[in-house]
Amino acid sequence: MKGQTINLQLSTTRKPKPQSDQLIFGRNFTDHMFTMDYTEGKGWHDPQIIPYQPISMDPASMVFHYGQTVFEGLKAYVQGERILLFRPEKNFQRLNISNDRLCIPHIDEEFALEALEELINIDHEWIPKEEGTSLYIRPFVISTEPFLGVAPSRHFKFMIILSPVGSYYSEGIKPVKIGVESDYVRAVKGGTGTAKTGGNYAASLKAQESANLKGCAQVLWLDGVEKKYIEEVGSMNVFFKVNGEVITPELNGSILDGVTRSSIIQLLKHWNIPITERKVSMEELYQAHKDGLLEEAFGTGTAAVISPVGEFVWEGESVVVNGGETGPLSKKLYDTLTGIQTGLVEDPFGWVK
Ligand code: COI
Repeated sequence: MKGQTINLQLSTTRKPKPQSDQLIFGRNFTDHMFTMDYTEGKGWHDPQIIPYQPISMDPASMVFHYGQTVFEGLKAYVQGERILLFRPEKNFQRLNISNDRLCIPHIDEEFALEALEELINIDHEWIPKEEGTSLYIRPFVISTEPFLGVAPSRHFKFMIILSPVGSYYSEGIKPVKIGVESDYVRAVKGGTGTAKTGGNYAASLKAQESANLKGCAQVLWLDGVEKKYIEEVGSMNVFFKVNGEVITPELNGSILDGVTRSSIIQLLKHWNIPITERKVSMEELYQAHKDGLLEEAFGTGTAAVISPVGEFVWEGESVVVNGGETGPLSKKLYDTLTGIQTGLVEDPFGWVK
């Protein structure tokens, strides 16, 4: 696959670009997209960059019925003449982990990265420059075989689309109110929680909707068996600072291995701030709050980077964190990580490509 030529068909027209201060997450798309098909017996073939357009699919395509699909999310920034990508190889590695789980054939990770770089070079004028903005990159695979039997598809399409974005939350890095979910669960060990697949997100919507009705921005997910241990927040990993120590739920087979999560852990170790990956229950967190030891809480993900939690609502009790304000560690992590991503802060880890 590596070294295979990508067929190029440039758009004859260019769409108007949205104003940087009016970017809504995931609403605008650039002029081009990458596509490549898979056929059993032939492998991945026909890589091409073509004008951004709707795709035509058979209504029996398996993705519409059984959800055999995976996706990724990463971001590009510009710094002077350079286009910066943040740890893109991690996303393509994880795409293949998700592919494994969903019975989708592997993609050549190096080739996918080459294709992405070529696509971004073509649409580089779409990368917004203002603080807090970036070009969000969405690689994804869908099963395209027209067949209603429940079996792995034998045909797939891999695509990459690009979207200039502002902050994921319209509030920016403002603390959010989180509802602790004790009925619905996101994932269980042995399920698909460690894969980035559409079904996980579809299954989260009902809880998200009921959290919104209660005035909460997101859901705090508990484990699917005992409904006791904290797993994730919304579509993000979650961290707590308790009495000087940072704690994040350990990767237990139902939590997504976030690229931002692993970057935060590395940064904290680099700063000699104690960081522990372990089980953490809602009871423990509530006790830490009662004892005045819960200093900060924040979600981490590609889209929002760091999203501070100002308040948890748990079984009718309110747990206010850091007076509802963004804590100093959350702010420092946000500034450092976005600084590294945008090339304004030195990158001691070689993360930026
Ligand atoms: C992320 O921030 O990493 C996400 O997965 C959010 C995305 C689904 C919009």
